[in-house]
Amino acid sequence: TLPPSEYKVADMSLAEYGRKEMDIAEIEMPGLMACREEMGTKKPLTGAKVMGSLHMTIQTAVLIETLKELGADLRWCSCNIFSTQDHAAAAVVAEGTSVFAWKGESLEEYWWCTERALTWEDGSGPDIIVDDGGDATLLIHEGFKSEIAYEKDGTLPDPNSTDNAEFKIVLQTIRDGLSKNPKRWHNVVDKLVGVSEETTTGVHRLIERAREGSLLCPAINVNDCVTKSKFDNVYGCRHSLPDGIMRATDVMLAGKTIMICGYGDVGKGSAQAMKAAGARCLVAEIDPICALQATMEGFQVATLDDYVKEIDIIITTTGNKGIVTVDHMAKMKNNAIVGNIGHFDNEIDIAGLESYKGIKKIEVKPQVHRWVFPDGHGIIMLAEGRLLNLGCATGHPSFVMSCSFTNQTLAQVELWENRSSGKYENNVYILPKVLDEKVARLHLKHLNAKLTELSPEQAEYIGVKADGPFKPESYRY
Ligand code: NAI
Repeated sequence: TLPPSEYKVADMSLAEYGRKEMDIAEIEMPGLMACREEMGTKKPLTGAKVMGSLHMTIQTAVLIETLKELGADLRWCSCNIFSTQDHAAAAVVAEGTSVFAWKGESLEEYWWCTERALTWEDGSGPDIIVDDGGDATLLIHEGFKSEIAYEKDGTLPDPNSTDNAEFKIVLQTIRDGLSKNPKRWHNVVDKLVGVSEETTTGVHRLIERAREGSLLCPAINVNDCVTKSKFDNVYGCRHSLPDGIMRATDVMLAGKTIMICGYGDVGKGSAQAMKAAGARCLVAEIDPICALQATMEGFQVATLDDYVKEIDIIITTTGNKGIVTVDHMAKMKNNAIVGNIGHFDNEIDIAGLESYKGIKKIEVKPQVHRWVFPDGHGIIMLAEGRLLNLGCATGHPSFVMSCSFTNQTLAQVELWENRSSGKYENNVYILPKVLDEKVARLHLKHLNAKLTELSPEQAEYIGVKADGPFKPESYRY
Protein backbone atom coordinates (compact mmCIF):
# COMPACT_ATOMS: atom_id res chain seq x y z
CA THR A 1 0.00 0.00 0.00
CA LEU A 2 1.03 3.56 -0.72
CA PRO A 3 1.92 6.03 2.02
CA PRO A 4 -0.77 8.75 2.32
CA SER A 5 1.64 11.35 0.94
CA GLU A 6 1.83 9.46 -2.37
CA TYR A 7 -1.77 9.80 -3.47
CA LYS A 8 -4.83 12.00 -3.09
CA VAL A 9 -8.27 10.86 -4.18
CA ALA A 10 -11.80 11.56 -2.96
CA ASP A 11 -12.71 8.33 -1.22
CA MET A 12 -10.80 5.06 -0.99
CA SER A 13 -13.95 3.16 -0.01
CA LEU A 14 -15.02 3.45 -3.67
CA ALA A 15 -12.13 1.21 -4.80
CA GLU A 16 -14.17 -1.99 -4.91
CA TYR A 17 -16.87 -0.37 -7.06
CA GLY A 18 -14.14 0.95 -9.35
CA ARG A 19 -12.60 -2.50 -9.62
CA LYS A 20 -15.92 -4.06 -10.66
CA GLU A 21 -16.40 -1.45 -13.40
CA MET A 22 -12.81 -1.93 -14.57
CA ASP A 23 -13.40 -5.66 -14.86
CA ILE A 24 -16.39 -4.96 -17.11
CA ALA A 25 -14.46 -2.34 -19.10
CA GLU A 26 -11.64 -4.80 -19.79
CA ILE A 27 -14.01 -6.96 -21.85
CA GLU A 28 -14.83 -3.90 -23.97
CA MET A 29 -11.17 -2.95 -24.42
CA PRO A 30 -9.78 -5.73 -26.62
CA GLY A 31 -6.89 -3.63 -27.94
CA LEU A 32 -5.50 -3.00 -24.47
CA MET A 33 -5.97 -6.61 -23.47
CA ALA A 34 -4.14 -7.71 -26.63
CA CYS A 35 -1.24 -5.44 -25.67
CA ARG A 36 -1.10 -7.15 -22.29
CA GLU A 37 -1.08 -10.53 -23.93
CA GLU A 38 1.50 -9.60 -26.54
CA MET A 39 3.90 -7.63 -24.36
CA GLY A 40 3.02 -8.63 -20.79
CA THR A 41 5.86 -11.15 -20.50
CA LYS A 42 8.45 -9.06 -22.40
CA LYS A 43 7.65 -6.00 -20.27
CA PRO A 44 9.06 -3.42 -22.72
CA LEU A 45 8.38 -0.53 -20.32
CA THR A 46 10.59 -1.93 -17.55
CA GLY A 47 12.51 0.90 -15.93
CA ALA A 48 10.25 3.60 -17.37
CA LYS A 49 8.69 6.15 -15.06
CA VAL A 50 5.44 7.10 -16.80
CA MET A 51 3.45 10.16 -15.79
CA GLY A 52 -0.08 10.59 -17.10
CA SER A 53 -2.20 13.73 -17.24
CA LEU A 54 -5.39 12.35 -18.73
CA HIS A 55 -9.02 12.16 -17.51
CA MET A 56 -8.94 9.73 -14.56
CA THR A 57 -11.83 7.53 -15.67
CA ILE A 58 -12.51 3.79 -15.62
CA GLN A 59 -11.13 3.48 -19.16
CA THR A 60 -7.96 5.31 -18.14
CA ALA A 61 -7.64 2.96 -15.18
CA VAL A 62 -7.51 0.06 -17.65
CA LEU A 63 -4.82 1.93 -19.61
CA ILE A 64 -2.83 2.49 -16.41
CA GLU A 65 -3.00 -1.21 -15.52
CA THR A 66 -1.92 -2.10 -19.06
CA LEU A 67 1.15 0.16 -18.91
CA LYS A 68 1.90 -1.27 -15.48
CA GLU A 69 1.70 -4.80 -16.79
CA LEU A 70 4.17 -3.79 -19.50
CA GLY A 71 6.61 -2.85 -16.74
CA ALA A 72 6.02 0.88 -16.17
CA ASP A 73 6.18 2.69 -12.83
CA LEU A 74 3.30 5.18 -12.99
CA ARG A 75 1.93 8.36 -11.44
CA TRP A 76 -1.29 9.94 -12.65
CA CYS A 77 -3.48 13.06 -12.51
CA SER A 78 -6.51 14.17 -14.48
CA CYS A 79 -6.33 16.79 -17.25
CA ASN A 80 -9.60 18.41 -16.26
CA ILE A 81 -11.00 19.53 -12.89
CA PHE A 82 -14.36 17.77 -13.41
CA SER A 83 -13.49 14.61 -15.33
CA THR A 84 -12.24 12.25 -12.62
CA GLN A 85 -14.40 9.27 -11.73
CA ASP A 86 -13.65 8.92 -8.05
CA HIS A 87 -14.18 5.15 -7.98
CA ALA A 88 -11.69 4.71 -10.82
CA ALA A 89 -9.08 6.84 -9.02
CA ALA A 90 -9.57 4.85 -5.81
CA ALA A 91 -9.28 1.49 -7.60
CA VAL A 92 -5.97 2.49 -9.20
CA VAL A 93 -4.55 3.64 -5.85
CA ALA A 94 -5.71 0.37 -4.25
CA GLU A 95 -3.45 -1.46 -6.71
CA GLY A 96 -0.47 0.64 -5.64
CA THR A 97 -0.27 3.40 -8.28
CA SER A 98 -0.05 7.04 -7.17
CA VAL A 99 -3.04 9.07 -8.34
CA PHE A 100 -3.69 12.72 -7.56
CA ALA A 101 -7.21 13.40 -8.85
CA TRP A 102 -10.78 13.88 -7.71
CA LYS A 103 -13.97 15.20 -9.28
CA GLY A 104 -14.38 18.91 -8.64
CA GLU A 105 -10.84 20.14 -8.07
CA SER A 106 -10.20 23.87 -7.79
CA LEU A 107 -7.71 25.22 -10.33
CA GLU A 108 -5.09 25.53 -7.58
CA GLU A 109 -5.67 21.89 -6.65
CA TYR A 110 -5.52 20.89 -10.30
CA TRP A 111 -2.03 22.32 -10.77
CA TRP A 112 -0.95 20.93 -7.41
CA CYS A 113 -2.06 17.46 -8.61
CA THR A 114 -0.18 17.90 -11.90
CA GLU A 115 2.98 18.91 -10.06
CA ARG A 116 2.67 15.99 -7.60
CA ALA A 117 2.12 13.49 -10.40
CA LEU A 118 5.30 14.79 -12.06
CA THR A 119 7.36 14.22 -8.89
CA TRP A 120 8.36 10.70 -7.80
CA GLU A 121 9.02 9.93 -4.14
CA ASP A 122 12.78 10.34 -4.65
CA GLY A 123 12.22 13.78 -6.22
CA SER A 124 12.89 12.65 -9.79
CA GLY A 125 10.64 13.33 -12.77
CA PRO A 126 9.10 11.03 -15.40
CA ASP A 127 10.85 9.40 -18.34
CA ILE A 128 7.76 9.49 -20.52
CA ILE A 129 4.46 11.34 -20.35
CA VAL A 130 0.96 10.51 -21.53
CA ASP A 131 -0.53 13.97 -21.97
CA ASP A 132 -4.05 15.06 -22.91
CA GLY A 133 -4.30 18.71 -23.84
CA GLY A 134 -0.69 19.42 -23.00
CA ASP A 135 -0.88 20.74 -19.44
CA ALA A 136 1.89 18.49 -18.07
CA THR A 137 4.04 19.46 -21.05
CA LEU A 138 3.19 23.12 -20.44
CA LEU A 139 4.25 23.04 -16.79
CA ILE A 140 7.61 21.48 -17.68
CA HIS A 141 8.27 23.93 -20.53
CA GLU A 142 7.24 27.01 -18.55
CA GLY A 143 9.25 25.80 -15.56
CA PHE A 144 12.32 25.27 -17.72
CA LYS A 145 11.96 28.71 -19.30
CA SER A 146 11.55 30.38 -15.92
CA GLU A 147 14.66 28.68 -14.54
CA ILE A 148 16.73 30.05 -17.41
CA ALA A 149 15.50 33.58 -16.70
CA TYR A 150 16.08 33.10 -12.98
CA GLU A 151 19.61 31.86 -13.52
CA LYS A 152 20.42 34.73 -15.86
CA ASP A 153 19.44 37.65 -13.66
CA GLY A 154 17.38 36.35 -10.75
CA THR A 155 14.05 37.15 -12.44
CA LEU A 156 11.13 35.26 -10.88
CA PRO A 157 7.99 34.49 -12.91
CA ASP A 158 5.37 37.14 -12.21
CA PRO A 159 1.79 35.86 -11.86
CA ASN A 160 0.56 39.43 -12.35
CA SER A 161 2.10 39.54 -15.81
CA THR A 162 -0.94 37.70 -17.22
CA ASP A 163 -4.72 38.28 -17.17
CA ASN A 164 -5.33 34.55 -17.56
CA ALA A 165 -6.45 33.32 -14.13
CA GLU A 166 -5.26 29.79 -14.76
CA PHE A 167 -1.86 30.81 -16.11
CA LYS A 168 -1.37 32.94 -12.98
CA ILE A 169 -1.56 29.70 -11.00
CA VAL A 170 0.97 28.01 -13.28
CA LEU A 171 3.40 30.89 -12.81
CA GLN A 172 2.83 30.91 -9.04
CA THR A 173 3.46 27.13 -8.87
CA ILE A 174 6.76 27.59 -10.72
CA ARG A 175 7.69 30.62 -8.63
CA ASP A 176 7.10 28.73 -5.37
CA GLY A 177 9.24 25.83 -6.62
CA LEU A 178 12.12 28.00 -7.85
CA SER A 179 13.16 29.14 -4.39
CA LYS A 180 13.34 25.50 -3.23
CA ASN A 181 15.13 24.03 -6.24
CA PRO A 182 16.22 26.31 -9.10
CA LYS A 183 17.13 23.27 -11.24
CA ARG A 184 13.93 21.28 -10.70
CA TRP A 185 12.60 21.50 -14.27
CA HIS A 186 16.06 21.29 -15.83
CA ASN A 187 16.49 17.94 -14.09
CA VAL A 188 13.12 16.82 -15.44
CA VAL A 189 13.98 17.87 -18.99
CA ASP A 190 17.42 16.24 -18.82
CA LYS A 191 15.94 12.76 -18.43
CA LEU A 192 12.67 13.25 -20.32
CA VAL A 193 12.47 10.76 -23.19
CA GLY A 194 9.24 11.97 -24.75
CA VAL A 195 5.54 12.64 -24.60
CA SER A 196 2.60 11.05 -26.38
CA GLU A 197 -0.30 13.47 -26.82
CA GLU A 198 -3.92 12.40 -26.85
CA THR A 199 -5.95 15.29 -28.26
CA THR A 200 -6.24 17.84 -31.07
CA THR A 201 -5.66 20.84 -28.81
CA GLY A 202 -2.55 19.32 -27.21
CA VAL A 203 -1.17 18.49 -30.66
CA HIS A 204 -1.69 22.12 -31.76
CA ARG A 205 0.35 23.24 -28.77
CA LEU A 206 3.15 20.75 -29.54
CA ILE A 207 3.32 21.73 -33.20
CA GLU A 208 3.54 25.39 -32.20
CA ARG A 209 6.47 24.62 -29.88
CA ALA A 210 8.20 22.51 -32.53
CA ARG A 211 7.74 25.32 -35.07
CA GLU A 212 9.27 27.97 -32.80
CA GLY A 213 12.06 25.55 -31.82
CA SER A 214 11.19 25.42 -28.13
CA LEU A 215 10.04 21.81 -27.88
CA LEU A 216 12.24 20.12 -25.28
CA CYS A 217 11.58 16.44 -26.08
CA PRO A 218 10.26 14.20 -28.88
CA ALA A 219 6.49 13.93 -29.10
CA ILE A 220 4.16 11.39 -30.66
CA ASN A 221 0.88 12.77 -31.94
CA VAL A 222 -1.55 10.00 -30.99
CA ASN A 223 -4.58 12.11 -31.92
CA ASP A 224 -3.88 11.85 -35.62
CA CYS A 225 -3.76 8.09 -35.70
CA VAL A 226 -6.78 7.29 -37.84
CA THR A 227 -7.96 4.84 -35.19
CA LYS A 228 -7.95 7.74 -32.70
CA SER A 229 -9.35 10.93 -34.21
CA LYS A 230 -11.68 9.23 -36.70
CA PHE A 231 -13.15 7.08 -33.91
CA ASP A 232 -12.80 8.66 -30.45
CA ASN A 233 -13.39 12.24 -31.58
CA VAL A 234 -16.28 11.26 -33.87
CA TYR A 235 -18.05 8.23 -32.42
CA GLY A 236 -16.95 8.86 -28.84
CA CYS A 237 -18.57 12.30 -28.90
CA ARG A 238 -21.57 10.93 -30.78
CA HIS A 239 -22.13 8.79 -27.68
CA SER A 240 -21.05 11.04 -24.84
CA LEU A 241 -22.42 14.43 -25.97
CA PRO A 242 -26.11 13.44 -25.74
CA ASP A 243 -25.26 11.49 -22.58
CA GLY A 244 -23.84 14.63 -20.96
CA ILE A 245 -26.71 16.89 -22.01
CA MET A 246 -29.32 14.40 -20.82
CA ARG A 247 -27.70 13.52 -17.50
CA ALA A 248 -27.32 17.23 -16.79
CA THR A 249 -30.75 18.45 -17.84
CA ASP A 250 -33.06 15.58 -18.85
CA VAL A 251 -34.19 17.85 -21.65
CA MET A 252 -35.90 16.32 -24.68
CA LEU A 253 -33.62 16.71 -27.67
CA ALA A 254 -36.21 15.83 -30.32
CA GLY A 255 -37.70 18.87 -31.97
CA LYS A 256 -35.20 21.29 -30.47
CA THR A 257 -33.08 23.70 -32.48
CA ILE A 258 -29.47 22.86 -31.70
CA MET A 259 -26.37 24.58 -33.02
CA ILE A 260 -23.04 22.75 -33.18
CA CYS A 261 -20.13 25.17 -33.57
CA GLY A 262 -17.29 23.49 -35.46
CA TYR A 263 -17.71 20.59 -37.87
CA GLY A 264 -14.35 18.85 -37.51
CA ASP A 265 -14.14 15.34 -36.10
CA VAL A 266 -15.83 16.17 -32.80
CA GLY A 267 -18.44 18.38 -34.50
CA LYS A 268 -19.32 15.66 -37.02
CA GLY A 269 -20.06 13.12 -34.29
CA SER A 270 -21.89 15.70 -32.22
CA ALA A 271 -24.12 16.89 -35.04
CA GLN A 272 -24.91 13.32 -36.05
CA ALA A 273 -26.03 12.53 -32.50
CA MET A 274 -28.32 15.55 -32.33
CA LYS A 275 -29.86 14.70 -35.71
CA ALA A 276 -30.37 11.08 -34.63
CA ALA A 277 -32.15 12.28 -31.49
CA GLY A 278 -34.66 14.13 -33.67
CA ALA A 279 -33.33 17.65 -33.20
CA ARG A 280 -33.15 20.31 -35.89
CA CYS A 281 -29.40 20.68 -36.02
CA LEU A 282 -27.53 23.71 -37.35
CA VAL A 283 -23.78 23.90 -37.89
CA ALA A 284 -21.45 26.91 -37.65
CA GLU A 285 -18.09 26.63 -39.43
CA ILE A 286 -15.28 28.86 -40.65
CA ASP A 287 -13.78 26.30 -43.04
CA PRO A 288 -15.63 26.08 -46.38
CA ILE A 289 -14.74 22.40 -46.82
CA CYS A 290 -16.19 21.40 -43.45
CA ALA A 291 -19.16 23.68 -44.04
CA LEU A 292 -19.85 22.00 -47.38
CA GLN A 293 -19.53 18.58 -45.74
CA ALA A 294 -22.17 19.64 -43.22
CA THR A 295 -24.57 20.67 -45.98
CA MET A 296 -24.07 17.28 -47.66
CA GLU A 297 -25.25 15.63 -44.45
CA GLY A 298 -28.35 17.80 -44.49
CA PHE A 299 -27.34 20.34 -41.86
CA GLN A 300 -28.14 24.01 -42.24
CA VAL A 301 -24.87 25.93 -42.07
CA ALA A 302 -25.48 29.22 -40.33
CA THR A 303 -23.91 31.74 -38.01
CA LEU A 304 -24.57 32.04 -34.32
CA ASP A 305 -25.25 35.75 -34.73
CA ASP A 306 -28.16 35.00 -37.07
CA TYR A 307 -29.71 32.28 -34.94
CA VAL A 308 -28.83 33.29 -31.39
CA LYS A 309 -32.47 34.04 -30.47
CA GLU A 310 -33.81 30.78 -31.88
CA ILE A 311 -31.55 28.08 -30.56
CA ASP A 312 -32.47 25.88 -27.61
CA ILE A 313 -29.05 24.27 -27.21
CA ILE A 314 -25.61 25.39 -28.36
CA ILE A 315 -22.50 23.20 -28.20
CA THR A 316 -18.97 24.35 -29.03
CA THR A 317 -16.53 21.83 -30.56
CA THR A 318 -13.94 24.10 -32.19
CA GLY A 319 -10.80 23.96 -30.03
CA ASN A 320 -10.84 27.72 -30.63
CA LYS A 321 -11.60 30.55 -28.23
CA GLY A 322 -14.35 33.13 -27.92
CA ILE A 323 -17.08 31.20 -29.78
CA VAL A 324 -20.05 32.01 -27.50
CA THR A 325 -19.78 35.50 -26.02
CA VAL A 326 -21.67 36.92 -23.06
CA ASP A 327 -23.53 39.17 -25.51
CA HIS A 328 -24.78 36.05 -27.31
CA MET A 329 -25.97 34.55 -24.02
CA ALA A 330 -27.69 37.80 -23.07
CA LYS A 331 -29.81 37.44 -26.23
CA MET A 332 -30.66 33.74 -25.93
CA LYS A 333 -34.05 32.20 -25.17
CA ASN A 334 -34.94 31.58 -21.55
CA ASN A 335 -33.19 28.39 -20.38
CA ALA A 336 -31.19 27.89 -23.54
CA ILE A 337 -28.57 25.24 -22.77
CA VAL A 338 -24.94 26.19 -23.38
CA GLY A 339 -22.15 23.64 -23.37
CA ASN A 340 -18.68 22.92 -24.69
CA ILE A 341 -17.10 19.62 -25.70
CA GLY A 342 -13.80 21.09 -26.96
CA HIS A 343 -10.74 20.69 -24.75
CA PHE A 344 -10.61 24.07 -22.98
CA ASP A 345 -13.27 26.25 -21.40
CA ASN A 346 -12.32 29.40 -23.33
CA GLU A 347 -14.76 28.54 -26.15
CA ILE A 348 -17.46 30.11 -23.97
CA ASP A 349 -17.03 33.47 -22.26
CA ILE A 350 -17.49 32.39 -18.63
CA ALA A 351 -15.43 35.34 -17.40
CA GLY A 352 -17.86 37.63 -19.26
CA LEU A 353 -20.81 36.01 -17.50
CA GLU A 354 -19.12 36.38 -14.12
CA SER A 355 -18.55 40.09 -14.61
CA TYR A 356 -21.95 40.83 -16.22
CA LYS A 357 -23.66 43.51 -14.18
CA GLY A 358 -26.59 42.23 -12.12
CA ILE A 359 -26.27 38.58 -13.20
CA LYS A 360 -27.01 35.74 -10.75
CA LYS A 361 -25.50 32.25 -10.77
CA ILE A 362 -27.71 29.53 -9.32
CA GLU A 363 -26.37 26.03 -8.79
CA VAL A 364 -28.93 23.45 -9.91
CA LYS A 365 -26.50 20.66 -9.04
CA PRO A 366 -22.73 20.31 -9.39
CA GLN A 367 -21.70 21.05 -12.99
CA VAL A 368 -25.13 22.47 -13.87
CA HIS A 369 -25.76 26.19 -13.30
CA ARG A 370 -28.50 28.57 -14.28
CA TRP A 371 -27.22 32.09 -14.94
CA VAL A 372 -30.04 34.63 -14.62
CA PHE A 373 -29.69 37.94 -16.44
CA PRO A 374 -31.14 41.14 -14.95
CA ASP A 375 -34.07 40.97 -17.43
CA GLY A 376 -35.12 37.66 -15.82
CA HIS A 377 -34.16 35.22 -18.58
CA GLY A 378 -31.61 32.56 -17.81
CA ILE A 379 -29.24 30.22 -19.59
CA ILE A 380 -28.21 26.78 -18.38
CA MET A 381 -24.46 26.32 -18.39
CA LEU A 382 -23.06 22.79 -18.43
CA ALA A 383 -19.83 21.92 -16.56
CA GLU A 384 -18.97 25.62 -16.20
CA GLY A 385 -17.99 25.66 -19.86
CA ARG A 386 -15.53 22.75 -19.55
CA LEU A 387 -15.89 19.57 -21.58
CA LEU A 388 -19.42 18.57 -20.70
CA ASN A 389 -19.24 14.94 -21.78
CA LEU A 390 -16.69 14.31 -19.04
CA GLY A 391 -18.02 16.89 -16.57
CA CYS A 392 -21.72 15.98 -16.73
CA ALA A 393 -21.38 12.33 -17.82
CA THR A 394 -18.60 9.74 -17.86
CA GLY A 395 -16.91 10.55 -21.17
CA HIS A 396 -16.52 8.12 -24.02
CA PRO A 397 -17.38 4.44 -23.64
CA SER A 398 -14.70 1.78 -23.17
CA PHE A 399 -14.68 0.32 -26.66
CA VAL A 400 -13.73 3.53 -28.45
CA MET A 401 -11.22 4.42 -25.73
CA SER A 402 -9.62 1.04 -26.31
CA CYS A 403 -8.70 2.24 -29.83
CA SER A 404 -7.26 5.51 -28.51
CA PHE A 405 -5.40 3.90 -25.64
CA THR A 406 -3.95 1.06 -27.70
CA ASN A 407 -2.31 3.80 -29.77
CA GLN A 408 -1.14 5.47 -26.55
CA THR A 409 0.37 2.18 -25.38
CA LEU A 410 2.18 1.64 -28.70
CA ALA A 411 3.45 5.23 -28.59
CA GLN A 412 4.80 4.84 -25.06
CA VAL A 413 6.61 1.61 -25.98
CA GLU A 414 7.97 3.23 -29.16
CA LEU A 415 9.36 6.23 -27.25
CA TRP A 416 10.89 4.10 -24.49
CA GLU A 417 12.43 1.51 -26.81
CA ASN A 418 14.01 4.28 -28.88
CA ARG A 419 15.21 6.34 -25.92
CA SER A 420 18.81 6.14 -27.08
CA SER A 421 18.45 5.14 -30.73
CA GLY A 422 18.39 8.70 -32.04
CA LYS A 423 15.27 7.89 -34.07
CA TYR A 424 13.30 10.77 -32.57
CA GLU A 425 14.41 14.40 -32.33
CA ASN A 426 12.60 17.20 -30.54
CA ASN A 427 9.77 17.19 -33.03
CA VAL A 428 6.22 15.85 -33.43
CA TYR A 429 5.79 12.39 -35.01
CA ILE A 430 2.93 10.10 -35.92
CA LEU A 431 2.90 6.33 -35.62
CA PRO A 432 3.30 4.34 -38.85
CA LYS A 433 0.15 3.30 -40.70
CA VAL A 434 0.79 -0.43 -40.13
CA LEU A 435 0.28 0.16 -36.42
CA ASP A 436 -2.92 2.10 -37.08
CA GLU A 437 -4.21 -0.83 -39.13
CA LYS A 438 -3.13 -3.20 -36.37
CA VAL A 439 -5.13 -1.25 -33.79
CA ALA A 440 -8.22 -1.46 -36.00
CA ARG A 441 -7.64 -5.17 -36.58
CA LEU A 442 -7.49 -5.82 -32.84
CA HIS A 443 -11.00 -4.41 -32.45
CA LEU A 444 -12.77 -6.24 -35.26
CA LYS A 445 -13.25 -9.64 -33.68
CA HIS A 446 -15.08 -8.18 -30.68
CA LEU A 447 -17.73 -6.89 -33.08
CA ASN A 448 -17.90 -10.11 -35.03
CA ALA A 449 -16.49 -8.44 -38.12
CA LYS A 450 -14.71 -10.62 -40.67
CA LEU A 451 -12.18 -9.03 -43.02
CA THR A 452 -11.97 -9.93 -46.67
CA GLU A 453 -8.45 -10.93 -47.67
CA LEU A 454 -6.77 -9.63 -50.79
CA SER A 455 -5.66 -12.20 -53.33
CA PRO A 456 -2.04 -11.75 -54.52
CA GLU A 457 -3.37 -10.70 -57.95
CA GLN A 458 -5.68 -8.11 -56.42
CA ALA A 459 -2.91 -6.81 -54.18
CA GLU A 460 -0.65 -6.39 -57.16
CA TYR A 461 -3.42 -4.76 -59.21
CA ILE A 462 -4.01 -2.01 -56.62
CA GLY A 463 -0.32 -1.81 -55.72
CA VAL A 464 -0.33 -2.77 -52.03
CA LYS A 465 1.02 -5.66 -49.99
CA ALA A 466 -1.58 -8.33 -49.23
CA ASP A 467 -1.26 -7.63 -45.49
CA GLY A 468 -1.13 -3.83 -45.73
CA PRO A 469 -0.65 -0.97 -45.38
CA PHE A 470 -3.70 -0.65 -47.60
CA LYS A 471 -3.71 3.07 -48.21
CA PRO A 472 -1.16 5.77 -49.04
CA GLU A 473 -0.30 8.33 -46.32
CA SER A 474 -2.38 10.92 -48.16
CA TYR A 475 -5.61 8.94 -47.83
CA ARG A 476 -8.12 10.76 -45.62
CA TYR A 477 -10.62 8.04 -44.59
P1 NAI B 1 -10.90 19.68 -35.67
O1 NAI B 1 -9.77 20.58 -35.99
O2 NAI B 1 -11.14 18.46 -36.48
O3 NAI B 1 -12.28 20.50 -35.68
C1 NAI B 1 -12.46 21.78 -35.19
C2 NAI B 1 -13.32 22.53 -36.21
O4 NAI B 1 -13.71 23.79 -35.67
C3 NAI B 1 -12.58 22.80 -37.51
O5 NAI B 1 -13.29 22.26 -38.60
C4 NAI B 1 -12.50 24.32 -37.57
O6 NAI B 1 -12.58 24.81 -38.89
C5 NAI B 1 -13.69 24.72 -36.73
N1 NAI B 1 -13.61 26.08 -36.16
C6 NAI B 1 -12.51 26.74 -35.70
N2 NAI B 1 -12.84 27.98 -35.28
C7 NAI B 1 -14.18 28.09 -35.47
C8 NAI B 1 -15.11 29.13 -35.23
N3 NAI B 1 -14.72 30.31 -34.74
N4 NAI B 1 -16.41 28.90 -35.52
C9 NAI B 1 -16.81 27.73 -36.07
N5 NAI B 1 -15.97 26.70 -36.31
C10 NAI B 1 -14.68 26.88 -36.03
O7 NAI B 1 -10.72 19.29 -34.13
P2 NAI B 1 -11.46 18.10 -33.36
O8 NAI B 1 -10.61 16.89 -33.41
O9 NAI B 1 -12.86 18.04 -33.80
O10 NAI B 1 -11.36 18.63 -31.86
C11 NAI B 1 -12.08 19.77 -31.43
C12 NAI B 1 -11.83 20.01 -29.95
O11 NAI B 1 -12.36 18.93 -29.19
C13 NAI B 1 -10.35 20.07 -29.55
O12 NAI B 1 -10.20 20.99 -28.49
C14 NAI B 1 -10.07 18.66 -29.05
O13 NAI B 1 -8.94 18.62 -28.22
C15 NAI B 1 -11.36 18.35 -28.35
N6 NAI B 1 -11.72 16.94 -28.16
C16 NAI B 1 -12.61 16.68 -27.15
C17 NAI B 1 -13.05 15.41 -26.91
C18 NAI B 1 -13.99 15.15 -25.80
O14 NAI B 1 -14.18 14.00 -25.42
N7 NAI B 1 -14.63 16.15 -25.22
C19 NAI B 1 -12.59 14.27 -27.73
C20 NAI B 1 -11.70 14.66 -28.80
C21 NAI B 1 -11.29 15.94 -29.01
